Amino acid sequence: MLKKKKITIIGAGKMGETLVTRLLGTGTLTKKQIYVTARRSVRVRHMTERFGVSGSTDNQEGVRDADIILLCIKPQMAQAVIAGIREVLRPDQLVISIMAGVTLAQLQKAVGQPLPVIRAMPNTPSEIGAGMTVLASSSETNGEHIRLATELFDAVGKTMVLDEKYFDTVTGLSASGPAFIYVVIEALAEGGVKCGLPRDVSTALVAQACLGAARMVAETGQHPAILKDHVTTPAGCTIDGLLKLEEGGLRVTMIKAVDETARRAKVLGYE
Ligand SMILES: NC(=O)c1ccc[n+]([C@@H]2O[C@H](COP(=O)([O-])OP(=O)(O)OC[C@H]3O[C@@H](n4cnc5c(N)ncnc54)[C@H](OP(=O)(O)O)[C@@H]3O)[C@@H](O)[C@H]2O)c1
Repeated sequence: MLKKKKITIIGAGKMGETLVTRLLGTGTLTKKQIYVTARRSVRVRHMTERFGVSGSTDNQEGVRDADIILLCIKPQMAQAVIAGIREVLRPDQLVISIMAGVTLAQLQKAVGQPLPVIRAMPNTPSEIGAGMTVLASSSETNGEHIRLATELFDAVGKTMVLDEKYFDTVTGLSASGPAFIYVVIEALAEGGVKCGLPRDVSTALVAQACLGAARMVAETGQHPAILKDHVTTPAGCTIDGLLKLEEGGLRVTMIKAVDETARRAKVLGYE
């Protein structure tokens, strides 16, 4: 569906570059279909030279010829940037925002006309195609718009469509989640170091154990508790390790971390 579409990325920073890398790398889009903008011309030059895409610092120029406009600017810039492109936006265009904390209602108010808007929440493993993006859509969107957005974000990993009411929780789980898991990986690797393993070996073992465990959950569909029970032999050694995790309150700490992140996500964006 994307084959005939032109995409303009407004604010081609870190996430914008990740998206362009994967969209071209997976063959989802060709360089002729992509236009990028940034605040500084040096940034635009970096993108156009690295990828052979078109670009400028003129957001209106980028919007005029686009079928899909992908807003990748920081949330604080949302109002000013959208106000700057409002007069050239058309109802036949699809606007997708990846800005954390900026709601569909805020986006719709900012664009000032009834056009299809989708809110997306990707995460950083998108960089290697192992991302998780959650989408929520405005009432002006139809099935084709959702399919287009899904196809775009499938280039950076998996995509799921959810009601917007879940977005703060999604932020606490799949968006911030990788940071929590990095801490877990680092801590387990320290355990290996404490027991005498070289740090690089320890980290590699933990990373692969996490990858394997994540794939077991995702691919077998089994409850994590059942998978955990399979590792835990009666009177074996795993149960002693699990006891230490419970003693340290790992489970409660993780639940609170997600809850607190979701609370904070509610007040991000702008009033
Ligand atoms: N990073 C993540 O893990 C992640 C995950 C999910 C969602 N997000 C969301 O993704 C968005 C971008 O994050 P990021 O990490 O990619 O930020 P970033 O690297 O700072 O990129 C923002 C880009 O916006 C450009 N920009 C600023 N003002 C502009 C204007 N008036 N017109 C056009 N472009 C303008 C900047 O240009 P210059 O480079 O020239 O200053 C920069 O390239 C944020 O809203 C964030 O909430 C990020």
